Amino acid sequence: MASSAAMSRVLLTLGLAILCAAGLAAAQNVGSVVTDSFFNGIKNQAGGGCEGKDFYTRSAFLSAVNSYSGFAHGGSETQGKREIAAFFAHVTHETGSFCYISEIKKDDSYCNASKPEWPCAAGKKYYGRGPLQISWNDNYGPAGRDIGFDGLGNPDAVAQDPVIAFKTALWFWMNNVHGVISQGFGATTRAINGDRECDGKNPDKMNARVGYYKQYCQQLGVDPGSNLTC
Ligand SMILES: *[C@@H]1O[C@H](CO)[C@@H](O)[C@H](O)[C@H]1NC(C)=O
Repeated sequence: MASSAAMSRVLLTLGLAILCAAGLAAAQNVGSVVTDSFFNGIKNQAGGGCEGKDFYTRSAFLSAVNSYSGFAHGGSETQGKREIAAFFAHVTHETGSFCYISEIKKDDSYCNASKPEWPCAAGKKYYGRGPLQISWNDNYGPAGRDIGFDGLGNPDAVAQDPVIAFKTALWFWMNNVHGVISQGFGATTRAINGDRECDGKNPDKMNARVGYYKQYCQQLGVDPGSNLTC
């Protein structure tokens, strides 16, 4: 009996070790999916004069991903690859294939005064910046707090440091999008810009996102799944 109990413990330990090893291997896999050729294949679509060309890099992305171990994890390998395809589809759409760092139109301050817990700093504007064009004081504030920069006082940091830029995109993703990934790509569009694009509001933009998603799924060798539109 004693030896069988000991055997159970050994098997349990072994099982846990295998589970941990699988998690670890998976955690290292984002870089093996987002290869140089995948990343640069997107960036090469941007024109030579684009401000984002020398800003967004694969190494900045991978460095940022290190802080978000849940990204592209938690499900099957297929789901992980779909999440990566979805992330880069939205990034492609939001930045014009890594052309733009900041929103073209910089008039609006995107300050919601009804969010007193994230007070806007004088003269600062919270228009879209970075891979997912994070916007509004109530995103800059908590993103800065979690990432470790002054999001309200220095929103321009997002447009100056590519690792911070990717971290804001991944911060937004993990808080708003990651949780709906299993519902299909349409749900991710709804989470990012549903108010303006879903339910017939802007089918062209919504479908443009779907197009990138399908293209990247194909490149990564996964089926895109169902419920792609919103
Ligand atoms: C501003 O915040 C208020 C309170 O949370 C919210 O009801 C409103 O929709 C927000 N406005 C915008 C433009 O996001």
